[in-house]
Amino acid sequence: MTIQDIYQLAIKKGIAYDPRGEAGVIRALDRIKKEYKTLPKKEQDYFDQESLKNPYSDTRILFGDPTIVVDKVLVGIDIHVGEMVLADRLNEKGEGIDLVISHHPSGRALAALDEVMELQIDMLETYGIPINVAENLMRNRIGEVYRRFAPLNHHQSIDAARLLNIPLMCMHTPTDNIGWKYLADRLEHTDLDTVADVMDELYKVPELKMALKDKAGPVIFAGTPRSRAGKVRVVEFTGGTEGAKEIYERLSHVGVGTVIGMHISEEHRKEAKKHHINLVVTGHMASDSIGMNIFMDELVKKGVTVLPCSGFIRVER
Ligand SMILES: [Fe+2]
Ligand SMILES: [Fe+2]
Repeated sequence: MTIQDIYQLAIKKGIAYDPRGEAGVIRALDRIKKEYKTLPKKEQDYFDQESLKNPYSDTRILFGDPTIVVDKVLVGIDIHVGEMVLADRLNEKGEGIDLVISHHPSGRALAALDEVMELQIDMLETYGIPINVAENLMRNRIGEVYRRFAPLNHHQSIDAARLLNIPLMCMHTPTDNIGWKYLADRLEHTDLDTVADVMDELYKVPELKMALKDKAGPVIFAGTPRSRAGKVRVVEFTGGTEGAKEIYERLSHVGVGTVIGMHISEEHRKEAKKHHINLVVTGHMASDSIGMNIFMDELVKKGVTVLPCSGFIRVER
């Protein structure tokens, strides 16, 4: 496989597992295309052309010739300068890493993380919140996320990749979509009576079980093991980062009893408690590993060797 093949496969899989469904993704891309056409020429010159074809702003080839053939990848949840130096050291020892893959984005893929959060508007609609309400609640939050990420030093790992001449890419929402579908299929259609039953179901996921031993597995943030689970929904798992805290009130009104999230802030936890929603946090690194693992299994099938690092809990299925 080439770097371009891996990138295309990430987009393809991301769409296949997207909570919006393929039709929803196409609609989102059409909206961007329309917007692009109405932009003044001056703004079109700066427009990210890739976003006309790739619906995931947080998934990009960050450095390297896309035609390079890849036999071995170093994969981490976060790739910073340290991991790039690690790749270089490993290559000095004869590892032969052709590409470094990060789950969390860098560069323009990080600066534009807010764009991928549009996905959550459609997802909330599928969970019963009217699209207009979901949009208005999320619009404020998307703006907040944009302003929070704007001042960061987005380019450090890419600069390191360039100086060391080691290709680097990131895939974020596509593999979070895979992880979301994996958990939604397990939890959203099962008859789970209590929060303890939800936890038991989560403990069956190998990555989450392994993380438990390191005190980084699933925990109950709101509610108790004996709390009745009600309708379980995997709400805070894909689509960039945490959504709007105001969604908890709405979710409570449309009959959601337990929210599953990858990581949840204290502010969100308070809102969940206030609106009587049980909150189960699955653990950040372990949860990000689920989708990454299912995707990496595809690369292994095509003859690529996967070397895990930086919090990535590698499990083959
Ligand atoms: Fe993630
Ligand atoms: Fe993450």
